[in-house]
Amino acid sequence: MYTTLLTSLENNILTITINRPDKLNALNQQVMHDLNEVMNEVYQNPEIKSAIITGAGPKSFVAGADISEFIGVNIEQAKNIAQKGQEIFFKIENSLKPIVACVNGFALGGGCELAMSCHFRIASENAKFGQPEVNLGIMPGYGGTQRLVQLIGKGRALELLMSAAMIDAATALHYGLVNYVLPQDQLLQKAKNILSVINSKAPIAVASCITAANAVFDESKNGFTVEINEFGKCFTTEDMQEGTTAFIEKRNPIFKGK
Ligand code: COA
Repeated sequence: MYTTLLTSLENNILTITINRPDKLNALNQQVMHDLNEVMNEVYQNPEIKSAIITGAGPKSFVAGADISEFIGVNIEQAKNIAQKGQEIFFKIENSLKPIVACVNGFALGGGCELAMSCHFRIASENAKFGQPEVNLGIMPGYGGTQRLVQLIGKGRALELLMSAAMIDAATALHYGLVNYVLPQDQLLQKAKNILSVINSKAPIAVASCITAANAVFDESKNGFTVEINEFGKCFTTEDMQEGTTAFIEKRNPIFKGK
């Protein structure tokens, strides 16, 4: 179905694997097209409650945008590449279904930016993170300057952005860039375990958490006002009735996403 992605749907969790291991899963235009399409599927398919993004092979999550496609690109084309890429990564960030990055190796340039657009990240012990664009005379264009500052703070972010330094998984954990570091063979199972728990909660309430948390970084919104509105919305749902009634009746709730 997708040229550059493998997908598998199990227990309402869609695992999306970027599948160009011979090029360390670099993001060429076809991968970006496929990522946009698969996010449409995540948004639209009611069987999908959450998703994992990972890379094929033991070495790399995504080693960046495909550098071979940058030759001969002019200013307007470059801005268009960044604009389109940002739109796709916003689609991931603004998904009302949780998306977790399983970083199984190099997450460099656009790969680090892709991981950062997911709702949270877990990494294998061999993972390496960095924004090495300045090595090429360019800079991040898929939101990296913004999300790296948001996630690890300006000082650490600018050091990485300006020096092109790579950090290992332990440092990424210390910086708060990832939530867990695990042996590679345990990575996907850990993400599935967390998502199974999340999938058992009230989906509209989970979606409202994402909307409110994203509002922190959206200057056009007041996050506290967004929280009030989303809190109010929860009280109109059948799942709120079910959740509170189940608590009083000392039983597990059965949520319907309504
Ligand atoms: N774009 C296009 N091709 C890439 C790529 C990228 N971002 N990253 C890796 N590749 C390709 C290599 O060209 C090589 O292809 P080849 O076998 O046809 O020559 C293949 O993937 C394997 O990479 P290689 O460099 O041989 O692996 P390595 O283990 O020696 O080094 C890296 C791994 C990640 C350190 C190195 O590939 C690298 O620096 N990649 C670029 C990272 C980067 O600058 N990303 C930001 C881009 S904006």
